[in-house]
Amino acid sequence: MSMNLTLKVWRQKGPDAAGKLETYQVKDISGDMSFLEMMDVLNTQLIEEGKEPVVFDHDCREGICGMCSLYINGRPHGPNRGTTTCQLHMRSFKDGDTIYIEPWRAGAFPVIKDLMVDRSAFDRIIQAGGYISVNTSGNTLDANAIPVPKEDADRAFDAATCIGCGACVAACKNASAMLFVSAKVAQLSLLPQGKVEASERVQNMVSQMDKEGFGNCTVTGACEAECPKGISLDNISRMNREFLKSSINPGK
Ligand code: SF4
Ligand code: FES
Repeated sequence: MSMNLTLKVWRQKGPDAAGKLETYQVKDISGDMSFLEMMDVLNTQLIEEGKEPVVFDHDCREGICGMCSLYINGRPHGPNRGTTTCQLHMRSFKDGDTIYIEPWRAGAFPVIKDLMVDRSAFDRIIQAGGYISVNTSGNTLDANAIPVPKEDADRAFDAATCIGCGACVAACKNASAMLFVSAKVAQLSLLPQGKVEASERVQNMVSQMDKEGFGNCTVTGACEAECPKGISLDNISRMNREFLKSSINPGK
């Protein structure tokens, strides 16, 4: 299976420059290529033509690091559910298709160049969460010896699968980061090790989220629908409960 495609790619020289869609043709694209490999073909072609390649984010290309982004035909990470851009294969498209490729769009994720946005706001939210207390006195309890109800362990693990890609923000009409922040709050608040600083953590993370300029959640569910890791809206309810509890009883 080989395809010829028309690509409409967002090009923007820098954060303050005006951007626009440029049109490119790519030929003989195999259905077995990943979307990013197709972008590599485009970039090789541009370099051979003496033009500037398209800047886009990527790292692991295995669906685990959260670096890849791209709004593809109006959807973060493209047309398939539960799939990151790096795991999206060209067999999901047809010969002759026109594909629109744009960056995440949110005030808190400014464009650095072309398709690459600055997601350091997420790092600052994580930093605001701080550390968990660990007894290093020499009588450290083996983590495996601390009993955790199976249901809590499963929920914490599900929340911990968030890869911090930011698709939830990009999908949300309010550019809200609630799904991401709630996954990070929930994964720790469900476990005994995370309960010690739970109250401080939720307050600090929510406050940093607001400072970064993310919008409010109006529970439209676009984040959950577009999240490549299936992070559930239940985490947002859990974070709201944690936040309320810590507001009424600070430090508890
Ligand atoms: S909640 Fe989902 S969409 Fe949002 S950052 Fe985590 S993995 Fe990405
Ligand atoms: S490049 Fe790592 S998740 Fe896509």
